[in-house]
Amino acid sequence: MSLSRWAVGAALGGAAIVMSFAAFAQPAPSWATVGGIFAQNCTRCHGGALPRAGLDLTTYASAISGSSSGPVIVCGDAAASKLVARITGQVAPQMPRGAPPLAPEQIAAIQGWINAQCPGA
Ligand code: HEC
Repeated sequence: MSLSRWAVGAALGGAAIVMSFAAFAQPAPSWATVGGIFAQNCTRCHGGALPRAGLDLTTYASAISGSSSGPVIVCGDAAASKLVARITGQVAPQMPRGAPPLAPEQIAAIQGWINAQCPGA
């Protein structure tokens, strides 16, 4: 093997190690994390007997099933998810309604969970 091929191989191998380390250091957020954010910020309106907009964010299944007008979470595509547009304020009124916006890291956790295909556990 020539020196330059060795160098390319070493660089690729190094990149793979760095990438797998990053994946290990930051696992995709789970429903436990995202459901906790919803429980603290959303379920007082999106839960109970009459969830607002028909959207119940108390369980994984009810969150995935969406509102009375359809899905608000597109697993694998945060950018296409109505729920993300509402917590970022791209679509008004921003959620949580009548309260300060979620923290950037909470928004990032919800986006990461959706982009990771909404892991259930
Ligand atoms: C104080 C009550 C309240 C809180 C808290 C609240 N919402 Fe809402 N939400 C509403 C109401 C009322 C509507 C229906 C009117 C509208 O679409 O703006 C709504 C609508 C929505 C919709 C649109 C549903 C659709 O089909 O278009 C989404 C998505 C949503 N909320 C997500 C959330 C999330 C996520 C949180 C927590 C971060 C949250 N909401 C917190 C009251 C609330």
